[in-house]
Amino acid sequence: MKKDINIGLLGLGTVGSGVYRILTRHRDDFRLKVGADLNIKAILERDISKADAVGADRSLVTTDAPSIIGDPDIDIVVEVLGGVEPARTFILQAIESGKHIVTANKELLADHGRDIFEAADAKGVDVYFEASVGGGIPIIHPLKECLASNKIIKVMGIVNGTTNYILTRMAEEGCLFKEALKEAQARGYAERDPSADIEGRDAAAKIAILASIAFNSRVTSPDVYMEGISGVTPEDIMYAGEMGYVIKLVALAKEEKDGLDVRVHPTMIPRDHPLASVRGVYNAIFVEGDAVGEVMFFGPGAGSMPAASAVVGDVLDVARNLQYGRSGKVGCTCFETKKIKTIGEISSGYYLLMNVVDKPGVLAKIAKAFGDNDVSLASVIQKGPRGANAELVFITHLTREKNLRAALKVIEGLDVVNRVCNVIRVENSGD
Ligand code: NDP
Ligand code: HSE
Repeated sequence: MKKDINIGLLGLGTVGSGVYRILTRHRDDFRLKVGADLNIKAILERDISKADAVGADRSLVTTDAPSIIGDPDIDIVVEVLGGVEPARTFILQAIESGKHIVTANKELLADHGRDIFEAADAKGVDVYFEASVGGGIPIIHPLKECLASNKIIKVMGIVNGTTNYILTRMAEEGCLFKEALKEAQARGYAERDPSADIEGRDAAAKIAILASIAFNSRVTSPDVYMEGISGVTPEDIMYAGEMGYVIKLVALAKEEKDGLDVRVHPTMIPRDHPLASVRGVYNAIFVEGDAVGEVMFFGPGAGSMPAASAVVGDVLDVARNLQYGRSGKVGCTCFETKKIKTIGEISSGYYLLMNVVDKPGVLAKIAKAFGDNDVSLASVIQKGPRGANAELVFITHLTREKNLRAALKVIEGLDVVNRVCNVIRVENSGD
């Protein structure tokens, strides 16, 4: 048994500083749990003053990555730099040097998971990535291990804290989008480039990781249909509220007879649905398995200490593996190759907001376009002041997306329709 297990920490930003704090704060407890001291031997960071903020010795900090990756005394490399490069190169080099890896980098895993897992398998080292999805929520281990007895049917959740924070502030306090985004950045929730959160790329990477594990078939970020929240207006939020819905950025992956349906987009959820009450930076992930039924994982989806909680949990797992001479646990589980459906092939309910000319026969023309394309309406409401124009809000029953798009093409060409303002998918639209 080792007396010391040495860690090379790549990155001392939001998550890295949390990792440093937890490893320092619980050092004695971890010694009891693992039977060795967990030491941060070196830190890769550009800004040496970040060491002061966590009380780390400045001498630990370097900008020389090879000195950490090639150090024979380092057992575990914790990568919390973010982004694909140089993180990918550093991780592959560290694996080549026989280091075990803990990473929070969903972008890297969703796009280059195969290279990393294959390299790790070849070297017999562990790669753990619990913090890559859901921040502090345990979801990777439960899906890979505790729920492995199930055939997974569906994974659906709110997996981006920044957008959930923004949508909650907009819906509950009428906060402006930009203001809410600034707050999320100040709290350390947002990615370095917050467009990754806003446009859905962060959630797409996370659902790609979850879908790959759930359905044993590799799903990468480009496979995921993605829409962000920048098109959601205060008007949509208001109408959704009036009709008993809330708007959330939902990530969904389900297996159907004709393939996998994997997507991220704003979704209207009935107010009594459990995901509707997930507010602020909180995330929640539903998993439906054939044996267990539905289970929900809930907790803080971003932030320094919640993310670091998951990272250090992985470090402890790796450290225990090292102590007891085991390795790998459950490695990559992508044993099959399954078809992924195009967006036209999926089915959903839809909310549509249109600005139209307010005169007799308008509704009939629009309804005909829906009917001709096999789109069944669940409800229609006329909004706005009486006058030359009006706003129409439609909710459809479950509809194949390609039919909805065909109907919209006709509707957009009608002279009585000024504008189709927005289309948002609806969960449980009464089909
Ligand atoms: P930060 O930007 O706060 O931290 C990254 C740190 O690494 C920065 O201090 C950065 O310095 C430093 N760094 C980056 N590249 C280099 C390099 N080549 N050499 C030296 N230093 C470097 O990011 P986070 O801590 O927020 O995120 C880290 C990872 O964790 C990402 O993959 C993210 O997706 C993931 N994650 C983040 C969560 C969160 O709530 N923030 C939650 C869960 C996962 P500099 O600023 O000078 O570039
Ligand atoms: N930017 C991410 C979020 C951090 O807002 O959820 C956690 O991955």
